[in-house]
Amino acid sequence: MILSSQKSRSNWAVIVAAGSGTRLGGDSPKQFIRLADRELLSFSVDTFLNHPAIDHVVIVTTAAFLYLVRKSYPACTVVVGGETRQESSANGVAACQTDAAKILIHDAARPFVTPQTISECLAALDENDAAAPVIPTKDTIVKQEGSTWRQLDRSQLRAMQTPQGFRAEVIRSAHATGVIGTDEIGLVLVSNPQAKIHLFEGDLDNFKITTPQDLELATLVLARRQTN
Ligand code: CTP
Ligand code: MG
Repeated sequence: MILSSQKSRSNWAVIVAAGSGTRLGGDSPKQFIRLADRELLSFSVDTFLNHPAIDHVVIVTTAAFLYLVRKSYPACTVVVGGETRQESSANGVAACQTDAAKILIHDAARPFVTPQTISECLAALDENDAAAPVIPTKDTIVKQEGSTWRQLDRSQLRAMQTPQGFRAEVIRSAHATGVIGTDEIGLVLVSNPQAKIHLFEGDLDNFKITTPQDLELATLVLARRQTN
């Protein structure tokens, strides 16, 4: 069929949910806590599953939660992560089939990613090797240099968000180099300085739930969304 041959390569989302949520605290890792009676993980998983341009969703989680996550998200491929976010993302990328064209990697701890952000990331990958949303920094940032401090130029700084999207071969080779980084754009920047990276303005609601204060904020965002 013409349709299927036109769409011979697919778009994948990898949702990393194998962390322990140390800074948030609590009884279970933050991706499994409840936000207005829904599991936090389900917010981003549903947004990606419902996006018309995303073909497959991979969830990366810990061995202890593998069975439960497979049961709760039967439409997704579920694999085990690693000690670091990077190992988790590498395992998720490895689970994407060889026909993958674009791979978007997203933090489960960012429940409010919008379909628009996903679309913008995918569209940017038509012309670029990698793409991700960024936010201008609100605070002035200072850097410790030995016994003194240096103020950085805020206008040149951005905070990275997710999803971080890649042409599949770009993220596969970045992981294969063995370079260490806190996120995937960082990996590509170091391992492949020639890569064309498009950073676009993100959405403040797409923040990462890291601390108990972030969780309070998430409750407010959800209440606002439900009344809108
Ligand atoms: N993550 C992961 N595997 C790891 C570490 C983190 O999949 N070994 C995921 C988390 O589940 C989260 C995302 O990466 O969705 C962002 O990481 P972070 O906010 O640091 O989450 P945690 O590592 O769980 O939290 P903390 O650092 O406070 O322990
Ligand atoms: Mg962490």
